[in-house]
Amino acid sequence: MFLYMSAVAALYGCNSGNSEKSDASGQKDKGNIGKVIYGTLPDGAEADLYTLRNANGMTIRITNYGGIITSWTAPDKTGKYEDITLGCDSLSDYLKGVPYFGALVGRYGNRIANGKFTLNGQAYTLAQNNGPNSLHGGIKGFDKVLWQAIAVDGEEPQLKLRYVSADEEEGFPGTLTTDVTYTLQKDNALSIDYTATTDKPTVVNLTNHAYFNLSGDMNKTVLDHEVAIKADRFLPVDETLIPTGELKPVAGTVFDFTKFKKISEGINADDQQIKFGGGYDHCWVFADNSNSLKEVASVFEPGSGRVMTVSTTEPAIQFYTGNFLDGTVTGKGGVSYAHRTGFCLETEHYPDSPNQPKFPSTVLQPGETYRTTTVYKFSVKQD
Ligand code: BGC
Repeated sequence: MFLYMSAVAALYGCNSGNSEKSDASGQKDKGNIGKVIYGTLPDGAEADLYTLRNANGMTIRITNYGGIITSWTAPDKTGKYEDITLGCDSLSDYLKGVPYFGALVGRYGNRIANGKFTLNGQAYTLAQNNGPNSLHGGIKGFDKVLWQAIAVDGEEPQLKLRYVSADEEEGFPGTLTTDVTYTLQKDNALSIDYTATTDKPTVVNLTNHAYFNLSGDMNKTVLDHEVAIKADRFLPVDETLIPTGELKPVAGTVFDFTKFKKISEGINADDQQIKFGGGYDHCWVFADNSNSLKEVASVFEPGSGRVMTVSTTEPAIQFYTGNFLDGTVTGKGGVSYAHRTGFCLETEHYPDSPNQPKFPSTVLQPGETYRTTTVYKFSVKQD
């Protein structure tokens, strides 16, 4: 059994080079993973910041507070590595409240209508933290808790996180033990593996909420990015962004991303669904509904040549175009994140599944293991 330690990270194994390195944060360590103290939480607990590196030069920083990816560098077509994620410069900035930048989201990614659901005849009430609805696990969801961490060095370094959520936490039934492993692969991919077990029937829908801007310039919007999603249907929503229950074909709509299309093409369309979302903020349902790991989405940024592909075992993805960013949140380097300066591709089960019996079930029973994987992989396309 693993011993989970938040204060001391165990470094297993060694990188073949095993040379001492120091990076921009002044961190010195051996191998492909490092750790520094990130800051202190209001309850006095200490959060750490881990740096995962691979031989190509990709660097990903992750804190065990919320499992947040605070930065992630990827090469452009000239080989230049730049940070392609939105986030904050310090723990205290995250604590001021930001819209889930890079965070692990749970127990339930996206919305549950009116913060209520019934399971086995028992009614459960969650926080209504988004209009009338519950969003992303409630007021103190998995993005705002301290995870236990183990760092594992190697050619493909890993950060293993665990959080045990108490029965009734945020209103959800069952003690839920969640393990998330971030693995930085040698092919410039980050794999995120999630497992969870419960001691009572419950509902689970875990995801990561990284915001990307593949240009590496957070002063630019993402409107020029070209997106493809292997989905033939999407979930129309009501004005509070709860799915109506319909699975609507994308064909002939601005939700058709079956071929690469610039985000700008449909984002301001005169379309009721676009108006409800303030742009794209919907769940796309994959044509391939198997739970094998399959490539489901790609994004290309023409200026940098960066390409990001998303593969997942999940049946759907929330494509959100940063419509609620409005310049009021100041991010890394003092940049104000303006409208649509980042996009998210959150792999998931459908929003509000606990209230929609026709949607694939998100119920987890005692004795079962919830298991899901998502991989974000970077490459470049030359002109
Ligand atoms: C939701 C958006 C929300 C954003 C940040 C997305 O997953 O669909 O409506 O604004 O997360 O909270």
